[in-house]
This record gives sequence, structure tokens and C-alpha cells, in this order.
Amino acid sequence: MTDATLNTPSAHASADDRIGPVLDALDADRDGARARLFDFLRIPSISTDPAYAVQCAKAADWLVGDLAGIGFEATAHATGGHPIVLATQHDAPGPHLLFYGHYDVQPVDPLELWESDPFDPQIVDLADGGADKAIRARGASDDKGQVMTFVEACRAYRAVHGALPCKITILVEGEEESGGKHLPGFLEAHADDLRQADVALVCDTGMWDADTPAITTMLRGMLGEEVVVQGPDRDLHSGFYGGAAANPITVLSQILGALHDADGRVQIPGFYDGVPEMPATVMAQWDALPFDPGAFLGEIGLSRPWGEQDRSVLEQTWSRPTAEVNGIWGGYTGAGFKTVIPSTAHAKLSFRLVGQQDPEAIRQNFRTFVRERLPADCTVAFHAHGASPGTVMPIEADHFEKTRAALTREWDREAAFIGCGGSIPVVGEMQRILGLDTLLVGFGLADDRIHSPNEKYQLRSFEKGARSWARILDALA
Ligand code: BES
Ligand code: ZN
Repeated sequence: MTDATLNTPSAHASADDRIGPVLDALDADRDGARARLFDFLRIPSISTDPAYAVQCAKAADWLVGDLAGIGFEATAHATGGHPIVLATQHDAPGPHLLFYGHYDVQPVDPLELWESDPFDPQIVDLADGGADKAIRARGASDDKGQVMTFVEACRAYRAVHGALPCKITILVEGEEESGGKHLPGFLEAHADDLRQADVALVCDTGMWDADTPAITTMLRGMLGEEVVVQGPDRDLHSGFYGGAAANPITVLSQILGALHDADGRVQIPGFYDGVPEMPATVMAQWDALPFDPGAFLGEIGLSRPWGEQDRSVLEQTWSRPTAEVNGIWGGYTGAGFKTVIPSTAHAKLSFRLVGQQDPEAIRQNFRTFVRERLPADCTVAFHAHGASPGTVMPIEADHFEKTRAALTREWDREAAFIGCGGSIPVVGEMQRILGLDTLLVGFGLADDRIHSPNEKYQLRSFEKGARSWARILDALA
């Protein structure tokens, strides 16, 4: 326990009187909470695939129903894409909190690698034989399970005290996983109401490890690009034309191969403009975290860090920008063999961004980098995907320490301030459009297999996550 105020008997007594019965109510209704989450998880709300649009709407409606049942005024707003759920309960005197989550999930392929139906949630024992069990389903961790930790905390608080401790607005969108374009417009259209909030809460990140809760203090941004290189105007016989005809797959791979130098630095001009060095205080926090790069890489079948050689693995994944090829295709990839020089070659890339890196400037610099390396006779087309800058949270704000103390109490382990390699574009949008800072608290674990087959959420994450939010709401009230 680090927060001296927590050890003051009077502070203890009044806080415990209020929060103790709420925690008891959460413990008493574990089965109910699990059943509700399972209902939510059974809805295959895959946002990227238009075939699941009806299921996305169904997930939004399910949430509206559940939130209305605990006193929220809740509506699923049509957006032109998937609906956005907005729910309010503002009759408390305390501060106004805007909670964000997403009900959409990633596709499930390759389906054959799942050990059970991704939309038929199961309680499973963990492979390492640990005492804890987990919920296996698509969306269990990212992000339905995490959303429901917050909803369950609200439900219990209201059941015990008849009202929430703070004014709460809940916004749950359905396009987070597919780079949807409708959220910023929605924030703008509802800005007058949403700006009333004092701070945003997001539950879409992880703990430091299975026993150590965390507040994520920085997120990387993301830029998506798709490239199509065209050479000959049709697919060719690779014997008849081979040697004379430019092969777009070779051209594209040479260009992509030039993106990094031998030390892992990205070679696009201006790429590192606006990339800050981390302050000594942050580096000291990270150095103090018990982190074993060998174990981190060993767990995924690797042994040595790949990227920038002069950076630690935590820096590489939290505070340094990257260029990654996410997919590359062209030519013949089917069964057997076909001697072809293809007409086109394709790649999808994503860049993780930090600090003041300007996503649109990097997009243009990347395109110039490709065009400058394109041989005569080849042409290139680009398709833009999302663009969001990196974000850093103001950890000196009062609510960070209050939240840290609440987490530390629940987990009996000092909560860590950590970075995050992933991106949650809404955090930057809420800052830009609404002027709101965000508190990122989540209970996912590194081995939750989000976006992969056999996604799971530890029961402990779900149950102690809900207890954590109850404590946080109480601490912020
Ligand atoms: N919940 C994740 C972000 C995340 C990843 C948090 C890892 C903590 C650890 C989120 O749903 C996600 O996957 N975001 C995408 C955003 C992209 C599509 C713009 C990402 O990071 O790739
Ligand atoms: Zn997520």
C-alpha cells in the first residue's frame, strides 16, 4: 500500500461502508454476471464482414436492453455503419465519467484452430494447470468481457445504493476492429453532451501480468496503407517472357525490403520526425518492471529481438514507431504449380506511431518512398486505411492516483503505469473533439490471444475487473 491516505482509519471506514456491500453484491451474483456475458458473447458481431451487419445491430440492441434494465437511458444510434450505443444515467452528484468500449469483434478465421465454437462460450481450464479458469470465445477479452466488467460494477452499485456514485455516460461502438469511420462524426454530432464529461474511461487494455493491475499511460497510433504494383498488363508465361518482363512481386518485395536498414531503423525520410525520447522518470518506471525479454519472445517461439537494435523490447513495443507488412499477395498461390509472371502484386502495411509523428505526412512520405523506387514500366496505386496519432495520458492528474490506489487495494499489488503497443484511435478523437483525457484501465492478459483463435478472458480478470471498477467509481465519486 503506497497511498498514505488509504491507511487513515477514518478514510478507511467511510469508504469501506460504501464499497464493501457493493463488492459483496458482485461476489454474490458471479453466476448472473457470467450468464449475461455469455449471452453477449453468443452474438457474432464481426464488424469487418458485411454479412454480420445484422448481428452487430443485435449486439447493440442487447446492450441497450441490459443497460436500460439498470436504469440507463439507452439508445442504439444508427450511423450509416454499425450502430453506436449511448446510455446515460446522470442523477448522481459526483463527477461525470464517459465510459468507452466496443461490442464488435474480429473475424474468427482460421476456424479449424479453435478448440470450441468461437460463439459458444466455454469455461476452460488453463493449459498451465493454474487454479484459475477462463472464458473462451471471440470477444471474451477484446472487448465484450472488458465492457461487462464496467457494466457489472454499475449494476451492483445501483442495486446496493439505489444510484450510481457518479454521473455516467456509456458509449459502446461497433466499428473499432474494422477501422470504422463513423465514430468521429458521432462524437462531433453529440459533442455538446459528451463534453460535459470530466474524464473518459476506456476498458480495452491489459494488466501488467496476471497478478499486477495496470493503468496504460501511452498508446501508439496507427496508419494503414495498401499498395498495388502493376507491371505487365496481363499475367504472362514466365518462360516466354521471363527475364524481359518486370515482375511486380519482385519489384514490390525489393521496395518493402528497403523499408528497414540492417539495424531495424525505418528508412522512409522524415519517419522519426516528432518521435520523442522517453523522460528519465518513465524509463525508470519501465526499468523497475520485472520484464524478461527472453520469456516474452520465447512464449511466441522466438528468441531474439528483431527491430531497432539499440532499444529495449519494452521501448520497441511501447514507445518506438514501426513499419510492418501485414499481408502480401499476388501470382499463383494455389495447389500445384503455375509458371506465371503476374500482372499485379499487393501488400497491406501498418505503421505504429508515437509522440508527434504526423500520420498524413508519413502516408505521403511512404508513397514517395515507393514511387521513387518504382522501375520504368511499373505503376503503383495506393489505398488509404485509418490514421491516428499516438497519445500520452497526463498521469499527474488527480484521478490517476485515485485509480491507482483503488486498483492496488483490489489486487493487493501496487498498480503499474505501463505503455501499450496497440492502438485505440478513439482516445485521440476524444481528446481532439471533446477535449477529454482518458484513463485506460483493463484486465486483459498478454496470453489472451486477442484477434487469434481460442481467445480467452480469465474469470479472475472478469470478476476482479468488475470489483476494480466498483472501487474506482467510488474513489472518483
Ligand atoms: N484492444 C485492442 C488494443 C490493444 C491491443 C490493447 C493490445 C492492449 C493490448 C484494440 O481492440 C485493437 O485491436 N485495436 C487495433 C486498432 C486498429 C484496427 C486501428 C490495433 O491495435 O491493431
Ligand atoms: Zn479492443
